[in-house]
Amino acid sequence: MLVAGNWKMYKGPAETAEFCLGLREQDLDGVDVVVCPPFVSLAVAVQVLAGTEIAVGAQNVHWENEGAFTGEISPPMLRELGVYGAIVGHSERRQYFGETDETVGRRTRAALAAGLFVIACVGETEAERERGETEDVLRRQLAHLEADDNLVIAYEPVWAIGTGKTATPEIADAAHAFVKSIIDVPVLYGGSVKPENAAELMTHGGHVDGALVGGASLELESFTAICRAAIPS
Ligand code: PGA
Repeated sequence: MLVAGNWKMYKGPAETAEFCLGLREQDLDGVDVVVCPPFVSLAVAVQVLAGTEIAVGAQNVHWENEGAFTGEISPPMLRELGVYGAIVGHSERRQYFGETDETVGRRTRAALAAGLFVIACVGETEAERERGETEDVLRRQLAHLEADDNLVIAYEPVWAIGTGKTATPEIADAAHAFVKSIIDVPVLYGGSVKPENAAELMTHGGHVDGALVGGASLELESFTAICRAAIPS
């Protein structure tokens, strides 16, 4: 199981250092743990977590190695910093920053080629689910991605992100099975994962390989509780 914390636009370097100092004291054997702070906090996270099994990821990455792309960060820049991977195509990037299935594919391919690990996000909106389009949307989003040893997909139904509305374990498992029928890689569930629902979401049905956690990854206690829920008993 893999548990990744997506901090979104929270925690500058000072708060990141404090969180990571606490995290490195935890015994999290048996689960792969990744934290994804904002770009400006990556260096301190890498530094504080050095020598542990906990990996540091970015929240986005560009497809070119360098160039006139104001505001973007390239795969070799992340590698140079000691960053292990990146989230790509999060629904907030699709919704607010013009990310498309095509740019998600380009970012993913470039990051993988540079040796980074990628968590590529897919998921339907509430309206799409209500119209019965969930599988069409997932198929379209996955069409730009190819299986790779360093790729995992995060299935994050948009209606469950930051809303407190979690997919039921049955809905999550069915969507994961569908994703895996298209692309044979591990699939994380994301969308209002909390310590209270994590174990059930991750164990029901057998198609869920971990979690991508937003809000509940910002507090050490709730994040580590979710990590522990992923450790096989
Ligand atoms: P949430 O966010 O856990 O706060 O719903 C998940 C995500 O956006 O990755």
